[in-house]
Amino acid sequence: MLRSMADSYRHPFFARAYAWLSQRMEPELGPHRHRLLAGLTGRVVEVGAGNGLNFAHYPTSVSHVLALEPEPHLRGLAELAALEASVPVAVVTGEASRLPMADASVDAAVTSLVLCSVPDPVQALAEIHRVLRPGGQLRFFEHVRADTPRLARVQRGLDATVWPRIAGGCHTHRDTISEIESAGFRIDQLESFRLPDIRVALPTSPHVLGTARRG
Ligand SMILES: C[S@@+](CC[C@H](N)C(=O)[O-])C[C@H]1O[C@@H](n2cnc3c(N)ncnc32)[C@H](O)[C@@H]1O
Repeated sequence: MLRSMADSYRHPFFARAYAWLSQRMEPELGPHRHRLLAGLTGRVVEVGAGNGLNFAHYPTSVSHVLALEPEPHLRGLAELAALEASVPVAVVTGEASRLPMADASVDAAVTSLVLCSVPDPVQALAEIHRVLRPGGQLRFFEHVRADTPRLARVQRGLDATVWPRIAGGCHTHRDTISEIESAGFRIDQLESFRLPDIRVALPTSPHVLGTARRG
């Protein structure tokens, strides 16, 4: 029997480590999550919802969130988080390269710390483009390729060796903004910043947060 990627995506060690770490980072990440989702309205798809830490930040102008999460441990935690959300959130098994929705059926799509981890970001963004209505928004919060050659070199080295294996498929050297634009989106708002906000830049420090519109 053929199994879809969403059925076979299991990272038990990473999932538990991420659930623990992300809770501890929430005082720093929470305000970014809040800005990421501020002002959204209507039907939203969140791709790779993890343990559901975005759910508490959706404004009540959102009518429904379909949250896809392929990893079973994180999905279970997301289901619990959905019970506490102030907007209706349905958590389902699913993954970015095949969104279970009709064309042009959602008002907004959300990715946070996900486009680094999907195996094929081009396909994921094509799917997001497909399900968004014309003029719909992609809200993104992602860590990205460094713009300093030295850190970018470190990122390339990590991506070619240990990082994707220990971090649930994550890559540090993705040029996510270019990928979003190549998928047919127009960037409306973009902030770049270092996270965590400390003096030394880590390979996952360069972050972007913004809005892109389906062209
Ligand atoms: C670093 S976590 C981020 C989780 C959450 N979005 C957040 O902001 O905390 C990366 C997430 O991407 C999910 N993921 C990895 N590959 C995916 C794929 N192909 N489709 C959808 N989600 C995926 C992982 O299961 C994990 O939940």
